[in-house]
Amino acid sequence: MTQTWAPSSWRDRPAGQQPEWPDADGLDRALKQIESYPPLVFAGEARSLQASLAEVAVGNAFLLQAGDCAESFEEFSAVNIREKLRVILQMAVVLTYSMGVPVVKVGRMAGQFAKPRSSANERVGDEDIPSFRGHMINDAAPNPLARVPNPERLVQTYNQSASTMNLLRAFTKGGFADLNRVHAWTQEFVSSSPSGRRYERVAAEIARAMRFMRAAGIDTESNPNLSTVDVFTSHEALLLGYEEALTRQDSLTGGWYDCSAHMLWIGERTRQLDGAHVEFLRGVGNPIGCKIGPTTTVREVLELCQALNPAHQPGRLTLISRMGAGNVERVLPPLLRAVTDAGYPVVWACDPMHGNTYSAPNGRKTRHFDSVVAEIDGFVRAHRAEGTWPGGIHVELTGDAVTECLGGSDAVSEDQLDHRYETMCDPRLNGRQSLDLAFRVAELITNDQR
Ligand code: PEP
Ligand code: CO
Repeated sequence: MTQTWAPSSWRDRPAGQQPEWPDADGLDRALKQIESYPPLVFAGEARSLQASLAEVAVGNAFLLQAGDCAESFEEFSAVNIREKLRVILQMAVVLTYSMGVPVVKVGRMAGQFAKPRSSANERVGDEDIPSFRGHMINDAAPNPLARVPNPERLVQTYNQSASTMNLLRAFTKGGFADLNRVHAWTQEFVSSSPSGRRYERVAAEIARAMRFMRAAGIDTESNPNLSTVDVFTSHEALLLGYEEALTRQDSLTGGWYDCSAHMLWIGERTRQLDGAHVEFLRGVGNPIGCKIGPTTTVREVLELCQALNPAHQPGRLTLISRMGAGNVERVLPPLLRAVTDAGYPVVWACDPMHGNTYSAPNGRKTRHFDSVVAEIDGFVRAHRAEGTWPGGIHVELTGDAVTECLGGSDAVSEDQLDHRYETMCDPRLNGRQSLDLAFRVAELITNDQR
């Protein structure tokens, strides 16, 4: 690892998963344009998220990171953003209420537009065409023309991220997320489910506590701790040209921050120690994540900690374990032990989605709710055995009544997958399944504390 770092030093390293842009001049123009635009987040906000994550690292808080697998240029509306926020707020209420610790809320939102792919091509009929790589790069339509990478999409990514961020700030600071409105966050289709009714009981108890506080003279309406929330943004830092163009020097500290989002993560396919993604993210001051899959070795995880958090800063690095339900209790414990023994204060989060994907007989990619719960269960058990804190979950979800993942309290079945299969990429939990999951996670963790 070289000692010097610059926003462009990743360019000397092998960078996986970068598209081949046919229009090099167009790419250059788009990146220059983005470079001239204002940052999407302020460095101080990234530091504030890191301070919250430091609380997670020591076991005093819990991380909820959630949102789309891939955001879409087409499904871009206030309703869509509001419904996703709504389910995240509901899950956070359930987790906070049951666990009694603050929940740090981070959306896979306002920038999650680029996807790593296992295969560069995809078979459509009897033709091989380039894979869909996210709306930041190409279009999902199954024809070769749609799949040509178009650099104008980078500028559109910036613009959509800015609007999404703006609305998120408005909702979270302008009254929508006010705890005095905890009842109003339930969508109709969620409220009629068993966990929806359970949520209503939690909401009623919170409303009662708020009435009590008001009676005792506490102004719950204008207390920012009750009337506003912080929802941070995150995405996989995959397209390094785009991330570089939004990397700015903080005027307060002089440090470099990737101002495309508060938190950035490195995917399972691009976490090579000598690769461009590790090189880029090691130099930015944001809190960062790194996915670790079932082949991760003790040596690799220690090298990643050393490269990404050499100063041992709490909250700087979140290791996002995505092992698969059948692997987690075998693979994770030695990693927990090694990182703890080496004294790295990381946040351990569980992504119970990406190790549990399979194809249903009709060809749809899906995940079963029971495997998602089983992976979190194994994750919590592994932490219990090692005396470490199961710090959070990282999930793909939507507020809508889609049928992409199987099971849950509605028991979505394989023959229902076609009813509403709308994801741009991986299958997401729907609103009901997401709330079901929040209750199950709260039970698993509080059992753990007992
Ligand atoms: C993702 O989070 O959508 C993803 C591609 O995950 P992973 O890198 O863990 O496969
Ligand atoms: Co995904």
